[in-house]
Amino acid sequence: MSDPRLDTSRPHPARRYDYWLGGKDNFEADRESARQIEERMPKVRLTVHENRWFLHRAVRFLAHRGVRQFLDIGTGIPTSPNTHEIAQGVDPASRVVYADNDPLVLVHARALLTGAPEGRTAYLDADLREPAAILGDPQLRGTLDLTEPVGLLLIAILHFIRDAEDPRAILDTLIGALPEGSYVVATHVTLEYLTPEEFTALRAVAETQSQARSGAELAALFDHPALEPVGVGVQSVAQWWAEDAPGPRPSAEDVACNGIVLRVREKVQPGFRNPG
Ligand SMILES: C[S@@+](CC[C@H](N)C(=O)[O-])C[C@H]1O[C@@H](n2cnc3c(N)ncnc32)[C@H](O)[C@@H]1O
Repeated sequence: MSDPRLDTSRPHPARRYDYWLGGKDNFEADRESARQIEERMPKVRLTVHENRWFLHRAVRFLAHRGVRQFLDIGTGIPTSPNTHEIAQGVDPASRVVYADNDPLVLVHARALLTGAPEGRTAYLDADLREPAAILGDPQLRGTLDLTEPVGLLLIAILHFIRDAEDPRAILDTLIGALPEGSYVVATHVTLEYLTPEEFTALRAVAETQSQARSGAELAALFDHPALEPVGVGVQSVAQWWAEDAPGPRPSAEDVACNGIVLRVREKVQPGFRNPG
């Protein structure tokens, strides 16, 4: 097995996520690990669903604001409806570029490349930690027009970028490429709503390579002069566009994930580096 992430005898985060979403692209090791986590943190399944439903509402929100191009970094194993299905449901001519660095997602990526004939989709086998390579990729350049608004989606991926990897520098590069009228949407796992017992138990079974951030820490990542928050800025994914979601809505405490939505109000000078 060349890449350990393709080894089906060991749990894999994307396959575990697929299991919680009710998908079929998972194996016994993933399900067993998912059950262990769920025993200690029962809200994990609801969190995963609410995160995904937030993605659907966010894409619809942007599409109804005229956004016809999306860059979805951290795509995950395809789960219908995917970003292009939602966007093309509003306008079949919508174009979507997906990017993920996991070879497992690449294996499944063909499912993302089937869109409305009027639109376009592309998939990049790429790493968020190399944003200039993503932006310069010929497939991205052939699919998106970076002089027109883009919806940048960073859904449940930023917790894989630790502070030591300088997430603000990564975001500065991406935001710097977005023209006025673009949007940035992100969700982020938070431990704010876990009891100390849940927290300790979860740490014992979950991988340590990810980094949870509080709502304030998430907002700080996007403290950028070109961006203005939409609505309240940060709140639980369950509370965004609650009027468009099935009720009753869970409380923030039931869902360990925050979401943030921002609009690009001006294009920043190339090479801008946020001092924060
Ligand atoms: C929890 S899944 C989220 C999937 C989807 N965005 C959603 O919210 O339903 C996170 C995805 O981010 C990808 N990912 C993590 N770190 C990454 C990185 N540095 N570059 C690109 N993708 C990354 C993982 O491979 C995984 O597919």
